[in-house]
Amino acid sequence: MCCSKVTKDRALEIVRRYDQVLAIINRYGKAKEQLLSILLDIQATSGENYVAEEWAEIVASQLGLPISKVHDVLTFYAMFNISQKGKYVIEICKSTPCHVTKADAVVAMFEEALGIKLGETTPDNLFTLMHTSCVGACDIGPVAKIGDEVYGNLTAAKVAEIVTSYRGVSSCQK
Ligand code: FES
Repeated sequence: MCCSKVTKDRALEIVRRYDQVLAIINRYGKAKEQLLSILLDIQATSGENYVAEEWAEIVASQLGLPISKVHDVLTFYAMFNISQKGKYVIEICKSTPCHVTKADAVVAMFEEALGIKLGETTPDNLFTLMHTSCVGACDIGPVAKIGDEVYGNLTAAKVAEIVTSYRGVSSCQK
C-alpha cells in the first residue's frame, strides 16, 4: 500500500515538473538561441541545483536540437550541474587573490560548520560545498558565493552565521 502511494506521489511530481519545464521552454518561445537561459531556469527551479538527463532530452526535442548540443552546453559551462546538488551550493573562490587570503581556511570553516568535506552534500540535501574561480570580489577575499550572494572577509564566526541563516530560511519555507 505504502509503495503504491510513493509511486503515485513520484508520478505526480514528474508530471508537475514536466509542466514546469515545458512552461519555461515556451516562455522563451522554444528559441534555440535561448538555450542557456532555458537550461539556467530549469536548473534554478529544480530544487536540486542540476539539470537532469530527462529534462535535457525534453529541451533538445522541443528546440529541435541534437541532445549532444545540449550536453555540450551543460558540460562546458561551470554554472551548470549535471548531478544532484544541495539546495544551496556554497562556492569558495580558489583563485590566487583569495588563495593568499586563506581561502583554504575558509573551506575548513565551512567543512566544520556543515560536517561535510569539499565536494560533498549534506545528508539533508541542503548544502553542497564546492570550489569556484574568481567571482570578481577579490578586494573582500576570502570569498564564498551562494546563489547570487557573495560573502567576503570571511571568519569562522561569519561562516557559522551564514550557515545558520540559510538553515533558518529553509526551515521557514517548509
Ligand atoms: S580571486 Fe576570489 S573573488 Fe577574485
